[in-house]
Amino acid sequence: MLIPVILSGGAGTRLWPVSRKAHPKPFMRLADGQTLASSTIRRALKVASGGVSLTVTGRDYYFLTRDLYREAAPEGEHHFLLEPTGRNTAPAIGAAAHWVRDHFGPETLMLVLPADHLIRDHAAFAQAVSSAAELASKGWLTCLGISPTHAETGYGYIRAGEPLSDGLEIAAFVEKPDAETAQRYYESGQYLWNGGMFCFSAGAILAALEEYVPDISVGIAQVWRASASDAEPVELEPESFAAVRADSIDFAVMEKAQRRAVVPVSCGWSDIGSWQAISELYEGDALGNRVRGEAVLVDSRNTFVQGEQRLVAAVGVDNLVIVDTGDAVLVASRDRAQEVKAVVDELRRTE
Ligand code: GDD
Ligand code: MG
Repeated sequence: MLIPVILSGGAGTRLWPVSRKAHPKPFMRLADGQTLASSTIRRALKVASGGVSLTVTGRDYYFLTRDLYREAAPEGEHHFLLEPTGRNTAPAIGAAAHWVRDHFGPETLMLVLPADHLIRDHAAFAQAVSSAAELASKGWLTCLGISPTHAETGYGYIRAGEPLSDGLEIAAFVEKPDAETAQRYYESGQYLWNGGMFCFSAGAILAALEEYVPDISVGIAQVWRASASDAEPVELEPESFAAVRADSIDFAVMEKAQRRAVVPVSCGWSDIGSWQAISELYEGDALGNRVRGEAVLVDSRNTFVQGEQRLVAAVGVDNLVIVDTGDAVLVASRDRAQEVKAVVDELRRTE
């Protein structure tokens, strides 16, 4: 059995002002009118057997997520683990693995998917998941690998090793290298990006957490004992959960583990992690301008405009990102769009 485990961690600060605490990225609607959360649950249930899903998210997002799922996938059986605060992906996945093991046994496979990624080729994705599940059923900690298109520093980099029946062994996994290293990896042509989508058995990931991050493993076991794990939804007990060290599964396990594999996939993936990435979803005109909503661009180039309620106009601008939500406006240099998170930090500091 394969159970999708959907991670929904809240606000993507690099997409301010559209993604905010009260309206985080999974609830963002793309051009097709769908939220990312709805597309994710549909895609997940298509590739999983059994119609069961488990979502790990913050308490504040429970009702909205549940309602979106019921609308998008009424046939599914949707379960939830609710976090009092985010402790990053290793504790979230650890808690999910306890749930899966207790309900369906340690051999049960988990397909870990971020709630806020975009995948355009569903058939290629389904094919890759089936290969990843094959490997996972043999005990491999498996992830989906994406061909890099630039030297992004926000991703994990994977150097593939020996071929396996359904993928490749991972020879090296480096999470978020510095700019120079990312450039070197990209130019070498020997690396894949980690797509942030994983497949492993509940037993295998629990064993890996125990081996590589024993403090997190012990902490999550305590949380599990302190939580009413048969409740629906399961509320992770706040005091013990807050005491667990925050770490990502990439640093905690994937960089260190022994039996790691990657399934390369070309499925039109985007983690739409920045305005730069969002703008790439839209077709550019002859001058490289991309527009969502209504805009008039005069003598302007390579500029992305997203307007929701008002007409946006610009004259003689180059390489800008302009996002208007009605109550906030972002104007940023296109190649520094990643730094929008500094706006959010500043707003939090002065709050
Ligand atoms: N429930 C829950 N709780 N979900 C979380 C938490 C948490 O505390 N922290 C993060 N998430 C969710 C996010 O919402 C996202 O869907 C996913 O887990 C990955 O977290 P990010 O914070 O977006 O990670 P990243 O983008 O820096 O890096 C990861 O993804 C890259 C690809 O997009 C890594 O796996 C990289 O190796 C990978 O390349
Ligand atoms: Mg991300």
